[in-house]
Amino acid sequence: MIEQFAKNVDAGLSKAEKTLPSKYFYDKNGDELFVEIMKMPEYYLTRCEMEIFTTQTDELIASFQAHKNDYFELIELGAGDGSKTRTLLEALSKKDYQFDYLPVDISQNALDQLQQSLQRHLPQVSVVPKHGDYFDMLGSVKDSHHPKIVLFLGSNIGNMTDPEASEFLYQLGANLSKGDKLLLGTDLIKPADVVLPAYNDDSGITSSFNINLLHRMNAELGATFDPDGFVHAPEYNENEGIAKSYLLSNKVQSVEIAATGKTYNFQAGEKIHTEISRKYDDQVLAKILAKTDFSISAKFTDKKNYFADYLLNRN
Ligand code: AVI
Repeated sequence: MIEQFAKNVDAGLSKAEKTLPSKYFYDKNGDELFVEIMKMPEYYLTRCEMEIFTTQTDELIASFQAHKNDYFELIELGAGDGSKTRTLLEALSKKDYQFDYLPVDISQNALDQLQQSLQRHLPQVSVVPKHGDYFDMLGSVKDSHHPKIVLFLGSNIGNMTDPEASEFLYQLGANLSKGDKLLLGTDLIKPADVVLPAYNDDSGITSSFNINLLHRMNAELGATFDPDGFVHAPEYNENEGIAKSYLLSNKVQSVEIAATGKTYNFQAGEKIHTEISRKYDDQVLAKILAKTDFSISAKFTDKKNYFADYLLNRN
């Protein structure tokens, strides 16, 4: 785990244009900061998707085309605290659908908390947590032969490049059967004055989230990053619909990393690219789906048209 982290960090910081993978944001501190981000007034994404789940619950369920007497598995990739899903679980169980809820998450802690909270609030729902990597888990549920509805929410797909998203959806399709469904939560392309503040909030929470990566490398890789030597510098290109986060070095500096045994040099103004947050529209999604087994069968948006949950059918 640490070796992989060190390897990824070395690869990214050795490039002419330095990068670090955003998956390393999520240590305990990063998880807590992300919970704070989701509550920020500027971060519209969570509220918009929640609005879709609470105001269009029946329409979402109808789009699954599930039959009341046919058992299915509701699989959520990266379930987190499952707050949006709870509305759906409640409605499905009220309508007497036969299903198990299989939250998949890399964090055992997140799964334990989710299971406890569902036991308390929705004891009638059967929860079968799956700890681990998405694909290991999908491989293990593949043999069940029951119909599947997969949830991949919260614009998590937006943290992948388009080729990565395409490969991910291709692999996901390969683990599903004809007629299975995927509900995909995407943030829609919109003007910079709405998107950029979501990644550059006034209270500085997103800045702390980005800078936390430096603290994490110091703690886990024996690095000597000066957290005050870098500033959070997000950008959003409205034409391509991609927000990018950077850590900008505010001085000439060198950083040693014990776990890689190397020293990395930074110019004043040099940037480390830490994250992409891709925004979608129908054309972007159609291109990404082109070489996969999925097609778009429905689209649910919030009132402001900021966010969309696409229902994809596995052909
Ligand atoms: C998890 N992911 C969808 C978030 C996003 O909007 O890209 C992560 C995030 N990064 C900065 N703020 C939120």
